Amino acid sequence: MSTARTQVGIIGSGPSGLLLAQLLERAGIDSVVLERRSRDYVLGRVRAGVIEQGAVAILREAGVAERLEREGLKHHGVEIAVGEQRYRIDFAAQAASLTVYGQTELTKDLMDAREASGGLPRFEVEEVVLEDVATARPRLRYRQDGAAHVLDCDFIAGCDGFHGVSRAAIPADVLTTHERVYPFGWLGVLADVPPVSSELIYLSHERGFALCSMRSAARSRCYLQCDLDTEVSAWSDERFWDELEARLPTELAAHLTRGPTLEKSIAPLRSFVAEPLRYGRLFLAGDAAHIVPPTGAKGLNLAVRDVQQLAAAFVTHYREKRDTLLDGYSATALRRIWRAERFSAWLTSVLHRFPGRTSFDRRMQIAELDQLVSSSAARAAFVEAYTGSQA
Ligand code: FAD
Ligand code: PHB
Repeated sequence: MSTARTQVGIIGSGPSGLLLAQLLERAGIDSVVLERRSRDYVLGRVRAGVIEQGAVAILREAGVAERLEREGLKHHGVEIAVGEQRYRIDFAAQAASLTVYGQTELTKDLMDAREASGGLPRFEVEEVVLEDVATARPRLRYRQDGAAHVLDCDFIAGCDGFHGVSRAAIPADVLTTHERVYPFGWLGVLADVPPVSSELIYLSHERGFALCSMRSAARSRCYLQCDLDTEVSAWSDERFWDELEARLPTELAAHLTRGPTLEKSIAPLRSFVAEPLRYGRLFLAGDAAHIVPPTGAKGLNLAVRDVQQLAAAFVTHYREKRDTLLDGYSATALRRIWRAERFSAWLTSVLHRFPGRTSFDRRMQIAELDQLVSSSAARAAFVEAYTGSQA
């Protein structure tokens, strides 16, 4: 059995874990990242695509925003369509913008930065166990290539996503979880076809919600609301494009370019928050701590902000020997997280088709969206929440 030591032991090499390691390294703090999957698997996952200005600034500070700022698409508005009616919400009044850049690309940039500094994660580790997290000497045990390893740490960062092991290390009588599971999912495809429009379009349609997003001027990322028992294999490319066309306003449907899909997958929708985000020397960040339905495009942005806050707290601990930021991490992060939970749950509720909904429920959704597009105050509040410009 081998024993090693680090300042911050990080579980998970998604955006949270990789960015935390990167920010810590730039502050001269040592960390080790343990990842259950292979490097290719982590780099192959297709997920989020919209990055807030504030998150871009954090990535710049981490030294990983160069390609994002060169290749990312800067958006200054978003469209919402209700049946045949199209509305554009402009971000200009708030001087806000969003950058469309795939999580896959961001993960690659983070991984390249880790490699350049010799701090690549340990991939394909198994049986990660957290020990003594309530003491001053927490420890991670794991296996790699059949051998047992021990990693002594000052702190442990649980960045291992919703299905990770970190959250479970908080005793049940300390941890409270809050959850809403939605009765539908999103069927997403990636295809090398030009997007139907230059901006994202969220579609509230009688047949169900749809979203036309993109990764570049030549690559589309589109989603359809689907039933939870949907099998990807039941959706040929043809069927996907037919259904998307049926949910698009006629004038946009005319611009829909079909093509073979590069990826097709289903994501269930969930709202989830764990409280508190700290137990002893264990801190949760990103999807390990909370899940938002993807409707508001907040998941990745929340993860980036959690990690920035956590990194700053570790820096204050080591440089100034003060723990005020570590002590405040959970409460401060949770306030920001709950605001994003509210927005994501609200946007999900007004755009999707819920089973068993009445004609009254549908009229309420339409009235809610009408209020959004007709009132400058409502639009301003939307832009603030959607672009994350509230800070
Ligand atoms: P993750 O990216 O989940 O990374 C966690 C890492 O920990 C993974 O690499 C995992 O393999 C590793 N891990 C797990 N358990 C262990 C263990 N026991 N030991 C070691 N390592 C472990 N957000 C949007 O805004 N828009 C979207 O369209 C969107 N689509 C999504 C689709 C799916 C299927 C999922 C799961 C999420 C989606 N999200 C989306 C959310 C967004 O991708 C996440 O918020 C973001 O990935 C969070 O990053 P993270 O690093 O906290 O977690
Ligand atoms: C995406 O491009 O994958 C995307 C965009 C906006 C969302 C969710 C996903 O709300």
